[in-house]
Amino acid sequence: MASFSPLLLLISLLALLFAKCRAIPCSSQTFKNNRRYDYCTDIPILHWTYNASNSSLAVAFLAAPSKSGGWVAWAINPNGTKMPGAQALVAHTVDDGTPTVNTYNVISYTSIVPGKLSFDVWDISAEFSDGFLIIFATVKVPEEVDTVNQVWQVGPGINKTTGLLQKHELLPVNLATYGPLSLVPTGTTNTRGDG
Ligand SMILES: *[C@@H]1O[C@H](CO)[C@@H](O)[C@H](O)[C@H]1NC(C)=O
Ligand SMILES: *[C@@H]1O[C@H](CO)[C@@H](O)[C@H](O)[C@H]1NC(C)=O
Ligand SMILES: *[C@@H]1O[C@H](CO)[C@@H](O)[C@H](O)[C@H]1NC(C)=O
Ligand SMILES: *[C@@H]1O[C@H](CO)[C@@H](O)[C@H](O)[C@H]1NC(C)=O
Repeated sequence: MASFSPLLLLISLLALLFAKCRAIPCSSQTFKNNRRYDYCTDIPILHWTYNASNSSLAVAFLAAPSKSGGWVAWAINPNGTKMPGAQALVAHTVDDGTPTVNTYNVISYTSIVPGKLSFDVWDISAEFSDGFLIIFATVKVPEEVDTVNQVWQVGPGINKTTGLLQKHELLPVNLATYGPLSLVPTGTTNTRGDG
């Protein structure tokens, strides 16, 4: 056990937090209403289709909130790689269990405010299925970019009075939740999904 590496530990924690009990690969996941996406990844669980003629990126992001009533977030950061500057879509379930999604600006690590994003976003909706919250949205990305910086996270709850997000934990798994998204991937890091 002495040889258990930090990387393995991180991967195990990621798997635990973001895949929980279900470890089915993204390529086997399907959505209601005949929604289909060209590509998917398992970490984060993201399905997407990029339309270059419209610079539009349709996504479905799946994550299990860190507790019941918690939130899940997926963001693009136009100006950086981590949280500050991220333009976030955040889903949670309201009291009667209905999933809902709102947009937030991550101004800094301590200031995350509800508000319009810096780019167009449309067809926003959320679903709750098998313990996973799913965020659906289409966003406008800058013309002729190959890659966008994505940031994702899960947290325990939303303050009903202020609409502000309760802080997520600071485990290694919560700090490694960012990375580039190749809009039209080549090679082996991304898998082509069928559904
Ligand atoms: C891509 O966007 C263009 C412009 O809005 C649209 O005409 C076209 O149908 C879209 N392509 C796909 C595959 O949705
Ligand atoms: C193209 O982008 C605009 C927003 O910039 C959006 O309203 C429209 O629905 C998009 N068309 C398609 C086919 O996605
Ligand atoms: C990103 O940087 C540009 C140029 O400095 C600025 O206009 C824009 O407001 C910034 N966007 C965000 C989300 O911070
Ligand atoms: C929600 O925010 C208000 C105003 O900052 C604060 O007084 C209250 O304690 C918060 N509620 C929870 C459950 O954190």
